[in-house]
Amino acid sequence: MSSHTTNTTAPLHQVDENAYFNSNPPPKALPQHIAAAESFINQHAAANRRVVLITSGGTTVPLEKQTVRFIDNFSAGTRGATSAEYFLEAGYAVIFLHRQFSLLPYSRHYSHSTDCFLDFLYEGADGSVVANPAHQEKMMRVLRKYTDAKRRNTLLMLPFVTITDYLHELRAVAQLMRPLGPNGLLYLAAAVSDFFVPPERMAEHKIQSTDATDKLRQGPTTMRQEKREQQQQQQPSEGGGGNQKQNGSGKDGAQPEEETFDNFDSSPAVPRSKRLIVDLDPVPKFLKNLVDGWAPEGMIVSFKLETDPGLLVHKARYSLDRYQHHLVVGNLLSTRKWEVVFVGAGRDDRWIRVPINRRKKTISGAEELVGAAERDRSTGGGGSNRPLDPATLPEGEPEMEIESLIIPAVEEWHSKHVESATTRNGGASASR
Ligand code: PMT
Repeated sequence: MSSHTTNTTAPLHQVDENAYFNSNPPPKALPQHIAAAESFINQHAAANRRVVLITSGGTTVPLEKQTVRFIDNFSAGTRGATSAEYFLEAGYAVIFLHRQFSLLPYSRHYSHSTDCFLDFLYEGADGSVVANPAHQEKMMRVLRKYTDAKRRNTLLMLPFVTITDYLHELRAVAQLMRPLGPNGLLYLAAAVSDFFVPPERMAEHKIQSTDATDKLRQGPTTMRQEKREQQQQQQPSEGGGGNQKQNGSGKDGAQPEEETFDNFDSSPAVPRSKRLIVDLDPVPKFLKNLVDGWAPEGMIVSFKLETDPGLLVHKARYSLDRYQHHLVVGNLLSTRKWEVVFVGAGRDDRWIRVPINRRKKTISGAEELVGAAERDRSTGGGGSNRPLDPATLPEGEPEMEIESLIIPAVEEWHSKHVESATTRNGGASASR
């Protein structure tokens, strides 16, 4: 078959994929990340251990190639970092593909602004650094788990920043996971940008907020030329250029360079800030490529975030029907730490909730409201098919992490996935 024929018969999503990845360059660290992921996967495949790829945090959308400004989103990486700890506890090896500087497994307990690690330490009598006795027990537990993950090499951290970095990394790692077959699990908790600026429309340099520098764009020679001409015009009448600053303008009313940048000056001669209209393209949907091509045998769990309770289940099911993967975990922005809904093919929706008696942690006086939604519906705590009313939840965070319920439930689905693959393959072992 000629290469021409191959191209023209390539599925549409393959064409989109090539077009996107060829025109949006990969992150510099990709080759090192691939090498690290490959050896990590080989180690755990040889031990017949399950490997989960967790994506976590938000992706940025740069507005300039030399990026000063970018669009971002709210995701702190809590879901991903917390889930990683529970997956490790369940015996998985974890590839943690995360937004640089978002929350990390284990260190997340001490990297919040409210839980600054320095507050957990004090200076001992001998000048050593000592952990605060009140926190020592928990710190020791966290430290031991972290050290254990390092010693056993069960946690690989790979950072990304931009939407393009993320997609290159996701594709590369998912493809590397193929040899794991059904033992591979992809748990896509990242909040991925839906829009981006394609490279052909992206400014190279910092976008200017006034048109004061438009003339300079003609190039450095022209700029110097204009400056010289300006000075020559000013010199005979002003006796030199030294008073440019005081006068504020040259003979012909042109602004000296320093003052054209002064946005606090209300003089009409000073350029005003411009409006910035950003024209974004949709990011191609690669979930189909992931399901069909990048990781065809692994189990794929995507997340769906909504703010409107009336849309959540509908959108989660739509995503499942469209991409034909295994499970969508739906969550609402306001209640995502309290409840999620599992939406899977051929299964009833299943709500997973922090039980009523584990919802308090930092209490704001709203304790009597906790669980009121369920009590009102006489479900006895957590059985309702309707989202919780955020107004009934206490302020702060629940005492119990909902990921401690999500991960065992996902693990159960994954076991079924592995079992049915094993049956299909005529009983060849695909266990942990
Ligand atoms: O980090 P936290 O503050 O704890 O917040 C966690 C979370 C709310 C971000 C998380 O629980 C969550 O819901 N993540 C998914 C957000 C979302 O709605 O994504 P989406 O609809 O844009 O994408 C659907 C799924 O496809 C997601 O699993 C996403 O990771 C994945 N995706 C989407 C687009 C794309 N180009 N690549 C992807 O992998």
